[in-house]
Amino acid sequence: MTRIVWHKGAFMPENEAQVSIFDRGYLFADAIYEVTGVVGGKLVEYEGHAARLQRSLAELGIPCPLTPEELLAVHREIVARNDLDEGLIYLQLSRGPADRDFVFPANPEPTLSLFTQAKRVLENPQAGRGISVISLPDLRWARRDIKTVQLLYPSMAKMQAKAAGADDAWLTQDGTVTEASSATAHIVVGGTLITRPLSNDILHGITRASTLDLARGAGIPVVERAFTLREAQIADEAFITSATNFVLPVVSIDGAPVGDGKPGPVTRRLREIYIADRLSRAI
Ligand code: PDD
Repeated sequence: MTRIVWHKGAFMPENEAQVSIFDRGYLFADAIYEVTGVVGGKLVEYEGHAARLQRSLAELGIPCPLTPEELLAVHREIVARNDLDEGLIYLQLSRGPADRDFVFPANPEPTLSLFTQAKRVLENPQAGRGISVISLPDLRWARRDIKTVQLLYPSMAKMQAKAAGADDAWLTQDGTVTEASSATAHIVVGGTLITRPLSNDILHGITRASTLDLARGAGIPVVERAFTLREAQIADEAFITSATNFVLPVVSIDGAPVGDGKPGPVTRRLREIYIADRLSRAI
């Protein structure tokens, strides 16, 4: 089955979607993106991703060619047209084509594209065994709160992790953990969930916000503060959150086991609560 994508105002087969070589997304990474999980053909946490999309656009002054209602309709239709049961919707919006100039064009014509990717997000084998991470310095730019497509360093970090035989990288700045290469990092110490507070240092994860709410609702204390790599290594549990991983245990950091080296009870409980609650609210 040929994948049907949304590109520049219309649905079309993926091989018909074309982007100009002058597109600022291509030349300057002048573009933002969003990833929304899909389970049972429904959108998980759509409102959060739609709100963050608007925030990223406002930060960069990129106009959105669709109204919020139209955007939701495109999300729903792309799932239907591709008969997507489980996976994700990737949305990218660039400032569009213009002669190469560092100065933004006065009248941008943004390029909006969406496509689907099938992925088994619920029956993820990594959820049962947990993932291993290595630590690397966070060499990304300082506005990580904007979800831009400048993903070269996270890509390099994942490659370094892979070369070291690990699954992912946790990035550090001044000794503290900022986040994972493409997910939010958390630890559990003495039953308390510890996670870095929101700032320009990290992406304001939609799954992070829900997980913290659900943890508090379940009586799990939450402390939002920066934590060091050392604290993470001697924590009882560690995990990541993201739209396509939900809550995923981290069982080793730089080759040393976290806790007993198995997914911990708080992490497993949060994954269960997250999936039960957010899937029941999927639209
Ligand atoms: N990544 N931090 C970074 C750097 C991320 O790239 C992501 C998401 C997150 C988690 O955000 P959320 O819970 O809203 O998905 C945190 C997406 C999934 C990606 O790049 O594929």
